[in-house]
Amino acid sequence: MKDTKILEVKNLVKHFTVTAQGASEQKQVVRAVDGVSLDIKEGEILGIVGESGCGKSTLGKTVMRLHDKTSGEVLYRGEDLFGMKRDQMKDISTHMQMIFQDPYSSLNPRKKVSQVIGQPLRIHSVGSSSEQSDRVEALMEEVGLNPKFKRRYPHQFSGGQRQRIGIARALALDPEFIVCDEAVSALDVSVQAQILNLLLDLQSKHQFTYMFISHDLAVVEFISTRILVMYLGRVVEIADKKELVQKHLHPYTKALFEAFPTTDPRSRIGKKRVVMGDVPSPIYPPSGCHFHPRCPFATDKCRMEYPPLKEVSPGHSVACWEFGS
Ligand SMILES: Nc1ncnc2c1ncn2[C@@H]1O[C@H](COP(=O)(O)OP(=O)(O)OP(=O)(O)O)[C@@H](O)[C@H]1O
Ligand SMILES: [Mg+2]
Repeated sequence: MKDTKILEVKNLVKHFTVTAQGASEQKQVVRAVDGVSLDIKEGEILGIVGESGCGKSTLGKTVMRLHDKTSGEVLYRGEDLFGMKRDQMKDISTHMQMIFQDPYSSLNPRKKVSQVIGQPLRIHSVGSSSEQSDRVEALMEEVGLNPKFKRRYPHQFSGGQRQRIGIARALALDPEFIVCDEAVSALDVSVQAQILNLLLDLQSKHQFTYMFISHDLAVVEFISTRILVMYLGRVVEIADKKELVQKHLHPYTKALFEAFPTTDPRSRIGKKRVVMGDVPSPIYPPSGCHFHPRCPFATDKCRMEYPPLKEVSPGHSVACWEFGS
């Protein structure tokens, strides 16, 4: 892994305005991402983990500029992504790709697999049609699909094979940075392992940089080199994988780990785990530390003031008053 930063996210905020249901139809603000800062270095696999609704997908999509930001900055190789003009963004978008959770709904069911995988090549006018066809076959082979099935439709493939189609499409333009959003969450456990291994093989072959989003800590632990834990739109802890597994400090991270029956991530993948209590609404986040209503160690300070993210050892930061100023 090199030391070059491929992505820098600075105090990124993404709020959605929604209309409340019921008589009042009041406007409400969903604080989906509420001041996230992070860096991703070339060749790194940064896992983003947290319970449903904590803002992981919103973070991934905003980083890809699929959402507008509310405030903050996203720098891609030092350049402000949101300041880019359409042409420059079109160029950059070939370097950045996203793989989604549900391979079926993200693949057009009326298009043959060759058209689905070749679509980015056509959009960006890469090569002649016979070169595009060769490239599609090579991509299918690379992700473990038999090219002789290229005239089939997505529904004729299994869930795991459909995710391979989605991966092949993401690879078509030779990206360097890939956001995987719950890329294996819809798959059976045994298939999850195959797809995770494929993503790892591709990463070591092409030196990809991944932002790997999952609500499943075992999956994130299996694939990542560094792990960021999110809670209600904010980063609560970030560290190298090994450090986080051995020395997690935030009570929320602890709760995520304690909800597991064993310590081997492979044996935990796909198992359901629950942290006590419900996730509060990002429309009305709790005062102070957002985790305080579920935290067994909360003090008055935690109820009143949000703890800043503080580096407690090199590369390991935590937002908790217990380790704060
Ligand atoms: N387009 C949108 N409009 C309004 N609210 C949204 C929109 N997208 C997401 N939200 C809200 O933002 C919050 C964060 O959602 P997000 O999908 O980013 O969470 P997540 O961590 O990816 O959850 P999951 O694990 O279920 O995928 C949620 O409260 C969600 O309802
Ligand atoms: Mg999501």
